[in-house]
Amino acid sequence: MTKTKIITTGGAGYIGSHTAVALQEAGFEVVLIDNLSNSNEEVVHQIAKITGTTPRLEKVDLCKEQEAFACFQRHQDAMGVIHFAALKAVGESVAQPTRYYHNNLVSMLHVLEAMQKHNIPNLIFSSSATVYGQPDQLPVTENTPLQEAASPYGQTKQMNEVMIRDAVHAGEIPQAISLRYFNPVGAHDSALIGELPIGIPNNLMPFITQTAIGIRKELAVFGGDYDTPDGTALRDYIHVMDLAEAHVQALQFQLEGKQNEKYDIYNLGTGVGSTVLEVIHSFEKTSGRKLPYRIVDRRPGDVAMIYANVDKAAKSLGWRTQRDLDEMTRTAWKWEQYAREKMGS
Ligand code: NAD
Ligand code: UFG
Repeated sequence: MTKTKIITTGGAGYIGSHTAVALQEAGFEVVLIDNLSNSNEEVVHQIAKITGTTPRLEKVDLCKEQEAFACFQRHQDAMGVIHFAALKAVGESVAQPTRYYHNNLVSMLHVLEAMQKHNIPNLIFSSSATVYGQPDQLPVTENTPLQEAASPYGQTKQMNEVMIRDAVHAGEIPQAISLRYFNPVGAHDSALIGELPIGIPNNLMPFITQTAIGIRKELAVFGGDYDTPDGTALRDYIHVMDLAEAHVQALQFQLEGKQNEKYDIYNLGTGVGSTVLEVIHSFEKTSGRKLPYRIVDRRPGDVAMIYANVDKAAKSLGWRTQRDLDEMTRTAWKWEQYAREKMGS
């Protein structure tokens, strides 16, 4: 039987590679489109080791119109696109806004145009909890009003959502779903794929694992005076494999024609918040290592607390997270220990 083909843009990246595994395990044929600006070609072999199938990798920059359109033409038999490709570093986006607007908006436009041209009917988009800013009420639902984004990166996510919404409402794209990820962490249990940040990590989990392995001296905990249970900031961390499985369920929902609203939005988190100290304690428990850390000033632009209401995804998609914080820190640590050797970096 022919497999249903799905295009994943940014499919060689952190979340895309885990989703490629979940899609292949669910029986889909996966094509990765990636310019490898923040990923490594080696990932396709790692995916093959896990699933037994090597996904096709198209080395294409989605901002280059001809390249992008030619690639979509080669895969016009695809039934859906999952659009992960983006630049994603919040701080870097403040320093290089034009580069971020160019990459994240132009690539989105080309995806929408190519989907129209080739009648590819389903789109799933990687959005972010950053679109909520610091909300007045917690947990946040999909109806919580959006705040002015705190960074050009956040602006691109808000703008991308608007571009998709308008394209769907005008009938240019039959249907689309935006998935607002909270804080994705962890790695596939095999430790064959995971997150490989370039340079000094901005995010908490890779900073923790790099500190524990000795690449960083100590973790700076940004802020100990927030109005949270222990004074450190609180986030909704979600295991990347739970996130990957949500994409498969959202896609199946679309393919089975179950989507009532032609453009729909789902929060993807666990619904439970953890403070920075809770993450450190979980890491120390699962790794058996003491983590050197120091509480320092707050990081500018950080919100005190945010966590998701995930009832909508549970009710409509039948999706719930399966993995807890200990599983997130355990797999993140396992990946850190083997990553550099396996990925040749
Ligand atoms: P990632 O950097 O690991 O993956 C993104 C991939 O897109 C990379 O492989 C990169 O090479 C590719 N890419 C970027 N620009 C491209 C272009 N013009 N053409 C082709 N490929 C291009 O990031 P990730 O963590 O896997 O994030 C995936 C998506 O999820 C992004 O849209 C990101 O903004 C979003 N997101 C991530 C997080 C997070 O904390 N990781 C949180 C919320 C939302
Ligand atoms: N933190 C530290 N020390 C560090 C790094 C982070 O204390 O060295 C703290 C932060 O202050 C924050 C928490 O750990 O309280 C989580 O920080 P991350 O940088 O890991 O994640 P953010 O919540 O800031 O942002 C993440 C992604 C964004 C995305 C956002 C909302 O990096 O891309 O979630 O989805 F937009």
